[in-house]
Amino acid sequence: MDISVDLGGLRLKNPIMSASGTFGYGLEFSPYGDLQKLGAIVVKGLSLHPRSGNPTPRITETPCGMLNAIGLQNVGVEKFLAQKLPFLPADETPVVANLYAQGAEEFVELAAILGDAPRVGALEVNISCPNVRCGGVQFGQDPEAAASVTREVRRASPDKPLIIKLSPNVTDIRVIARAVRDAGADVISLINTLGGMAVDIHSRKPRLANIVGGLSGPAVKPVALKMVYEVCSEVDIPVIGLGGICNARDVLEFIMVGAHAVQVGTANFMRPDLIFDLVDELPGLLAELGAESLEDFRGSLETQ
Ligand SMILES: Cc1cc2nc3c(=O)[nH]c(=O)nc-3n(C[C@H](O)[C@H](O)[C@H](O)COP(=O)(O)O)c2cc1C
Repeated sequence: MDISVDLGGLRLKNPIMSASGTFGYGLEFSPYGDLQKLGAIVVKGLSLHPRSGNPTPRITETPCGMLNAIGLQNVGVEKFLAQKLPFLPADETPVVANLYAQGAEEFVELAAILGDAPRVGALEVNISCPNVRCGGVQFGQDPEAAASVTREVRRASPDKPLIIKLSPNVTDIRVIARAVRDAGADVISLINTLGGMAVDIHSRKPRLANIVGGLSGPAVKPVALKMVYEVCSEVDIPVIGLGGICNARDVLEFIMVGAHAVQVGTANFMRPDLIFDLVDELPGLLAELGAESLEDFRGSLETQ
């Protein structure tokens, strides 16, 4: 069964990718499975300089998922290139660098550095983080700002496939999708976390030091699926669907509404070996559903 995909020039042997921020720098998950099995590894969001993130507590459980306000803690791009990237199986499984910056200039600098790094297969630009004071979702909620960042990153890194990661915290996701497509995105990924909050009635305190955070996991899957469906119906570039994927059936729901590939996020915290099993389970489930290839199954949703 052929389950390979082409994501704007990035060839993947299967559509299963890790979601940024939930898979470390990849190597942390090597005790749980063979990293080379995965379609691609998307690493933790990288900024120009190291970041220590928000104060703790910055993760709390909710009935159907988790709420986080990590605040993009990361080692910074130089340390990533020197100490993490060389140990990833980038030939077999492309490494996707996820970029976070506080302003357009920083995005450009970061994109130029990562665009030149031979072992980085593609760039994924996070214009959708709700947990930081500057940058992040501010870029992703305004079509002009989203287009402008996309254009600048495209110019700074003309050769690498460019993925723009969208926020669900908008009124009409299709407007933002069109804006980044027109500005030069090769691929769109969605969704990032949904704004959320949890409080403790005994201490009368918010459960996160940041007060508010981003909701992920099974609770967000129906929202994600709707938005992925809408974006796939709106733009003609490949889409990566994510949000609450926990098993192979979830993967195929996203593919059925039109996604080329998927990313697995919060489920990695629940079962660190799950992502590897998904790769094994996918061909069998597709065959059971009568599909001859992943391509044959993609977008096969019947709405009439
Ligand atoms: C702890 C945590 C950290 C995250 N860090 C990032 C990040 O650095 N960059 C990014 O683009 N998304 C980040 N995300 C968002 C996820 O990649 C994903 O878009 C979101 O969690 C929805 O997918 P899921 O429900 O499968 O987790 C993070 C999510 C979590 C839970």
